Amino acid sequence: MKLGKLTLKSNIFYAPLAGCSDFPFRQMAARFKPALMFCEMVKMEALIRGNEQTLRMLDYQEAMRPIGAQICGTDPQKAYLAAKILEEKGFDSIDLNCGCPVDKITKDGSGSGMLKDPERIGDVIANMAAAVNIPVTVKIRAGWDEKTLVGPQITKIAEQAGAAAISVHGRTRKQAYKGPANWDYIKVCKEVATSIKVIGNGDIFSGEDGAAMLRQTGCDAVLVSRGTLGQPWIVEDILRAQAGEPPSERSLEECLQALLDHFSYSTTYKSEKGALIDMRKAGCWYLKKALGVREFRKKISHANSLEEMRSMIENFECRPIK
Ligand SMILES: Cc1cc2nc3c(=O)[nH]c(=O)nc-3n(C[C@H](O)[C@H](O)[C@H](O)COP(=O)(O)O)c2cc1C
Repeated sequence: MKLGKLTLKSNIFYAPLAGCSDFPFRQMAARFKPALMFCEMVKMEALIRGNEQTLRMLDYQEAMRPIGAQICGTDPQKAYLAAKILEEKGFDSIDLNCGCPVDKITKDGSGSGMLKDPERIGDVIANMAAAVNIPVTVKIRAGWDEKTLVGPQITKIAEQAGAAAISVHGRTRKQAYKGPANWDYIKVCKEVATSIKVIGNGDIFSGEDGAAMLRQTGCDAVLVSRGTLGQPWIVEDILRAQAGEPPSERSLEECLQALLDHFSYSTTYKSEKGALIDMRKAGCWYLKKALGVREFRKKISHANSLEEMRSMIENFECRPIK
């Protein structure tokens, strides 16, 4: 698949996930080679200011390529500067976040707040596209609520402003994460798209889900979000499903080993405290199909050292949920 001048290996993308798609997560993801993966969203202003924490969120290594950064904000001029910084940092693509539903973000019109001002989305994208040679993309929700379904309108605006692709999350802002994603919201965007690629997003948790979204909506690519948590290999499952093959069975022992590998990446990249906190989330991602995960989560939240954490993980008894 082509994204602007980029040639990608497939049409399966891994989404930006604030608080989750950090460096260790992306090291795990890189083993399975999604077409493109994203760092966590960063604010344009913080990036321009050179905020240390923000810059750290953008750390990446060559094995993670192709890699995208995602910015959040409303100001076209700042978007221009932020895009330039990201291109200089070597990113392969830059995405504009117009989907984040969190009040803290939408209160100044950012994230899904941008859905209320489609023209501004066009201005911001046009400035990003003018600033860089790498592909610029945008990620939206279907609308602010079910009465304002602006997906097709924004698809056209983004196309005219020079975006190479638009990711469409099949939920409204009002829905937050409640209820199933409505894939028809993606289909209607694809129907009005001419040159812009449409990337479907929402509720892809298995290989078959990914293949079904591609089939049902006609979208050009899929963006997997929560389905990547504890399943860094989901790209392989989607490719297999597209080829009509069953997913590779992964035993609980393999999932536990993946968790240990994630933990090793975490301990290398983060402080001891950071790695311990990391495991409180990631610990459960990989063991979703095992009995006793809730107790395990409680237990590991009391680990006081890396050695103790490692031993707790290694001693987890893998018993499948019947
Ligand atoms: C914990 C969490 C963090 C997220 N962070 C981001 C983010 O930084 N940028 C973004 O565009 N979307 C973010 N999202 C939204 C997802 O990328 C995606 O659009 C949404 O979860 C729907 O896809 P899914 O049903 O496959 O998870 C986040 C979602 C979750 C659950």
